[in-house]
Amino acid sequence: MKNLRHPTSPPRRSPAKAIMPLLLAGLLAVGGALTFTGTAHAGTTLGASAAEKGRYFGAAVGTYKFSDSTYMSVLNREFNSVVAENEMKWDATEPQRGVFNYSGGDRIVSHARANGMIVRGHTLLWHAQQPGWAQGLSGSDLRNAAINHVTQVATHFRGQIYAWDVVNEAFADGNSGGRRDSNLQRTGNDWIEAAFRAARAADPGAKLCYNDYNTDGINPKSTGVYNMVRDFKARGVPIDCVGFQSHLGTSIPSDYQANLQRFADLGVDVQITELDVAQGANQAGIYAAVTRACLAVSRCTGITVWGVRDCDSWRSDNPLLFDCAGNKKPAYTAVLDTLNGGTNPNPTGNRLRNEGSGRCLDVTGASTANGTQMIIWDCHSGANQQFTQNGQALQVMGKCLDAPPNATPGTRVQIWDCWGGANQQWVFNGNATISNVQTGLCLDVNGAATANGSAVIVWTCHGGANQRWVRA
Ligand code: XIL
Repeated sequence: MKNLRHPTSPPRRSPAKAIMPLLLAGLLAVGGALTFTGTAHAGTTLGASAAEKGRYFGAAVGTYKFSDSTYMSVLNREFNSVVAENEMKWDATEPQRGVFNYSGGDRIVSHARANGMIVRGHTLLWHAQQPGWAQGLSGSDLRNAAINHVTQVATHFRGQIYAWDVVNEAFADGNSGGRRDSNLQRTGNDWIEAAFRAARAADPGAKLCYNDYNTDGINPKSTGVYNMVRDFKARGVPIDCVGFQSHLGTSIPSDYQANLQRFADLGVDVQITELDVAQGANQAGIYAAVTRACLAVSRCTGITVWGVRDCDSWRSDNPLLFDCAGNKKPAYTAVLDTLNGGTNPNPTGNRLRNEGSGRCLDVTGASTANGTQMIIWDCHSGANQQFTQNGQALQVMGKCLDAPPNATPGTRVQIWDCWGGANQQWVFNGNATISNVQTGLCLDVNGAATANGSAVIVWTCHGGANQRWVRA
């Protein structure tokens, strides 16, 4: 039963809907402009322009605004990712111990799905916005309740979340570089890694992030986080990404990009997770600088602004990209122009040419049906050879390159509805191989064949020419 193959993936779409891509509505809107030449193309929305650079552009949302038509039209037009501003926090999701309420979060997820947006999850554990019952706990009782919370919530949303802020704001401000004192911290210094392990077990397909503020430049607090991430990577604690809230005033740290890069160099993705910037003389310039920095760091997978319009913001200093009437501010234009400027930071070309055969990765018959298998074919300019990165997903014709569940060496690679799972995430390795995040296996031309139509499979990585792919 093919439609049971991802128990947690979105339901099968009708053939008519199948050509409406989950993430590439904007990309397809520019249609033939997405060519193999690798030159920059001017998208007309934040989401479409970010997608052309292999990134997402998201907004924090609240369901209490979903009845506001101006809000919804801006949201649906501009953004290809959402995060719940409050609805997935502990106080919202577990108002009484063991009693869970997912109504707000579910509504956001279903809106995202229906509109081709990915979802960031925010947040599983945090010292703030805890329900009253948890604030009154301590010791092992609190630890158990916290880990249970992580497990329950991550399980509920399993398969629907691109990245979770597993732990939020656990480091202290100031120069100590140490942890913030909190009821959670007082359960033992290992509470963060316990949370990450529980989240991984509950939703293996979600990227797991640590998220914080005042970590946007190189300073004692960000270095404290850096040291924790380095330690987690060294000890195999599951962590995939670091979120930089970037609630900014009238300036941006001069080492903003260098800070993102030093985290990326630890082997984690980085994301700008709660961007807003004080309305001052340089609001547009700061927004542009953040965007430039993310584009310059290949592991910066996307940007989220903390609200849609100024009137939707938690701040009162008009820190967002749209005014209260939904008009684009100069900061909006600065971000869009920056996204559209320059060249793709990734090597040029959207085709993937196999070195052994000289032929290109190709969706058989240009079919968009789920389960259509990949082959190699003479390189041409058809859409079935055009692959766009969105985070670590490789999108083609509105579908995602997908290693079937339980793939083993020899399993054929296919396309399927994008759902954000690890079996749809691919890593471009330094030796030109492309490995699948779930299996660790490499994209491989079966038997090192070279003929048109030869099967593309996953196989143990060996770096041979039939496993090397170059953008063309
Ligand atoms: C804020 C929300 O925007 C407000 O609506 C709520 O009252 C308080 O929380 N860092 C975070 C976010 O990680 O969750 C916070 O969101 C803003 C600061």
